[in-house]
Amino acid sequence: MMPRRLPHFCPGEAHDIKQWLREEGSQEAVTAWEAAIADYVGMPAAAAVSSGRQGMVLILEHLGIGQGDEVIIPAYTLKDLAVLIQKLGARPVPADISPDTLNVTPQAIRARLNSRTKAVIALHAFGVPCPIEEVVAVAKEREIPVIEDCAHALGASVGGRQVGTFGEAAFFSFEATKPVNTFGGGMVVSRDDALLEKVRAHNARGADDSGPFEKKTRAARTERLLFATKLAFPFLYLLATPQLRRPVERAYRSVLHAPPKKVRYLPAQAKLGLRKLPSLAERIRQRRRQADLLAGLLRPDIDVQRVESDCTTTWYFFVALLPCEASKVRKGLLMRGIDAGIEDEIADNCARLLEDHQCPNVHGVYSRAIVLPLHEGLSDPDIEKLARTLNALVP
Ligand SMILES: Cc1ncc(COP(=O)(O)O)c(C=O)c1O
Repeated sequence: MMPRRLPHFCPGEAHDIKQWLREEGSQEAVTAWEAAIADYVGMPAAAAVSSGRQGMVLILEHLGIGQGDEVIIPAYTLKDLAVLIQKLGARPVPADISPDTLNVTPQAIRARLNSRTKAVIALHAFGVPCPIEEVVAVAKEREIPVIEDCAHALGASVGGRQVGTFGEAAFFSFEATKPVNTFGGGMVVSRDDALLEKVRAHNARGADDSGPFEKKTRAARTERLLFATKLAFPFLYLLATPQLRRPVERAYRSVLHAPPKKVRYLPAQAKLGLRKLPSLAERIRQRRRQADLLAGLLRPDIDVQRVESDCTTTWYFFVALLPCEASKVRKGLLMRGIDAGIEDEIADNCARLLEDHQCPNVHGVYSRAIVLPLHEGLSDPDIEKLARTLNALVP
């Protein structure tokens, strides 16, 4: 089986995690990890938090966002973000995406601005930077803060400058398949010390509970084993069966993707992050090489998410746009041993979920997009097989 993604593991980390959990106590490692991320991104400081989602909520709360306010979000993003904005009493307003870059455009954001708009969330979708400088310029005309959603994008840059440094604040995610994986957790970066103090205080109030972290490490190891032994096939087959897709996906998300509620980011997670960060640049380089190979082998009528020439991406996901509905080829790929993701396994169509009719581009992208395998476990012959198989399956 060729999985579409593979959480990054360092040799011996399972043993070390057990040891670190036994030693728990001091917050020194978390402080060092915050400093390492701030330094990597090029910001004065950072604050760790239990999830990227929690990071976004804390930023919005700090900005005073609540009842009657509007927050612009990309039409193509994780739906949980819209729900969390609604929980604050505010209204999430989707802005349409470019069908080439799959990112929000400054024009779409401008079209959704009004006197109630209090923040813009700019996602760097699948690691590909959005036109963040233009987005910030549009928002600045009305003094509206921009929050960068860097959940997929640690290591991506625009004109040599790391994402996460352009807006008022940014949040990163360290979930299992993210560029740096600490089996949950996130980080807020900002030049606003008061915000970072709030995030740290929030984290300090969280329960000292390693349960969710340990559950995620076990689930990721099990997933890896299932792929290695082909036992993942029955699960993926259910996922590729339209009538069963929703409950199977929900069950999966509840294990690997659920944000831990009131737990704190643990020193053991910080130690894992400190160990994994140094290899990030090399892992991105490997993925870029694979992505170039794959893109060059695909049929000309299969488009690949565009990366602007002054930008670098993390290749968190390799997203292709098919000339047909992606659901039509997904099972065929699976029957040939290739796992691919479609529809809300990639991102949610938030315009549809919010019953908004001003985002025409997102609908076509949502149904045509497919995430193809891209990770360090693939060889060049694997990538050639992938391209050959997909090219033959697309009608
Ligand atoms: C676009 C986007 N934003 C935010 C998040 C939230 O990150 P976390 O899972 O750490 O809460 C995710 C998670 O995958 C995401 O895909």
